[in-house]
Amino acid sequence: MTKRLWIETVGCQMNVLDSELVVAALRRQGWEMAPAADAADAVFYNTCSVRQHAEDKIYSALGRIRSVKAKRPDVVVGVLGCMAQKDQEQIRKRAPWVDLVVGPGQLHQVPTLVDDVLAGGGPRIEVSLDRKAGSRDAIARSFESYDPDRDAAMRPTPFQAFIRTQTGCDKFCAFCVVPHVRGPEQARSPETIVAEARKLVAEGCREITLIGQTVNSYKWSDGGRTTRLADLLALLDAIDGLDRIKFVTNYPRDMTDDLIAAVRDLPKVCHYLHVPAQHGSDDVLGRMKRGYTIGEYMEMHGRIRAAIPHAAVTSDFIVGFCGETDAEFQTTLDLVKTVGFKNSFIFKYSPRPGTKAFDRLPDDVPEEVKKERNRLLLEAQEEVSLAGNRRFVGTRQQVLVEGLSTRDEKRAVDPGPDGVAQLTGRTMCDRIIVFDAPTRLVGRLVDIDILAAGAWSLSGVVADGLADAVPLDTLDFSGDTTPLYDISLPHSKPQAATSEPSRG
Ligand code: SAH
Ligand code: F3S
Repeated sequence: MTKRLWIETVGCQMNVLDSELVVAALRRQGWEMAPAADAADAVFYNTCSVRQHAEDKIYSALGRIRSVKAKRPDVVVGVLGCMAQKDQEQIRKRAPWVDLVVGPGQLHQVPTLVDDVLAGGGPRIEVSLDRKAGSRDAIARSFESYDPDRDAAMRPTPFQAFIRTQTGCDKFCAFCVVPHVRGPEQARSPETIVAEARKLVAEGCREITLIGQTVNSYKWSDGGRTTRLADLLALLDAIDGLDRIKFVTNYPRDMTDDLIAAVRDLPKVCHYLHVPAQHGSDDVLGRMKRGYTIGEYMEMHGRIRAAIPHAAVTSDFIVGFCGETDAEFQTTLDLVKTVGFKNSFIFKYSPRPGTKAFDRLPDDVPEEVKKERNRLLLEAQEEVSLAGNRRFVGTRQQVLVEGLSTRDEKRAVDPGPDGVAQLTGRTMCDRIIVFDAPTRLVGRLVDIDILAAGAWSLSGVVADGLADAVPLDTLDFSGDTTPLYDISLPHSKPQAATSEPSRG
């Protein structure tokens, strides 16, 4: 009998990609997607450890699945990804009904492990070495690369795909758990990356987003030849049938002139650079061990602006980091206003066991203060984003149509390929545009005349007469931001992913 799988994904794009790959591997072994967790033979949680909140969500979900497991003891419950690597056997201590704990460096084992558990082999924990448990090489080897074949049907939008350039991170920012749970930085060869891109494009993919924790630190040396991100972008830009290339996340110190020139000159590369500053104060950046000053960040930003004046630059910020004073917080507010980020992802500091900040610096900013600073920074960013977006009103922008808007997705009415719905797409600068058009345009590049701007999205009409003008008062700007982080994605509608747009 066919076995059925349910998987829930939280965290960043790495996790979205890992889930796609795990599901693809299991589908090749005859598994199908279940319509709900309580109808599945295996329930997986692909987890995130970057903040406590993400872990709490998973422990609550494990609490809920307990009753399913009590009724159907054969169901395999699996915790995959970063929490598995971080908490290891602690997970089974807190939730003894968990059968599988598999770290991000061991995902290739999932198909065998599930079969073993189903065959009555008992619970299994498979994780990689801790960062202090051996030589760099041994640790790196224990985080095995995971490159099974892709499965377009398992992507929310088959015409968009992530490709990994590197795994892991060696920067060890004081607050960050990623180097501990994802292991040492290891690049994939340019040949592997380009071959994967060609295959995806042959299967209908039109936009590729390269992902790495510090994607612009990418470096591959082979027989005296070194390939950096700028070279890789040039190789990908030459692929026929591919429309757009993006890459995240950038590390400020590695934003070299050749990379900025590549973004400016290669026609398919989007003018969108996510380069987290994290904070506006040199003292805090020092405590965070980020490895640059605000002067250096501004110098880098100046080079981007000089080369590509309209480029969209975005950032992450942490508020309430250890010892952050009011005056230090003010410098972050000032930075947001000075730089004019297209948008920022703002996080309240969450102490992570195993990190330098956790071991050495007290988490001394009260939660209420963190909340208030978060609110103030978001408010400042909203103003900056609105001002930035307003400059686009009256212009014509090419967008890649991604799917139904959040509003129409919530309505859950399928208008059919010729039916007009409210759709969303993104410009070359990653700005979200909302417009009414037939749903058959999903996955295509379309010119839109921009009529109005909100802080998080713009709205307009299709420029080539495919749709009637939309009365402005019917447009809904709320909630149309797709977050870079804290994506929460149940793999609930696998069939829908191939036949209809499913992401707003
Ligand atoms: N380089 C990675 C960063 C992963 S973490 C990338 O691909 O984006 C994403 C963001 O979460 C970081 O940029 C940082 O702003 C935030 N973050 C990381 N650790 C955190 C912590 N302990 N508390 C709060 N926010 C954190
Ligand atoms: Fe984390 Fe800093 Fe690396 S934020 S992922 S340690 S660059």
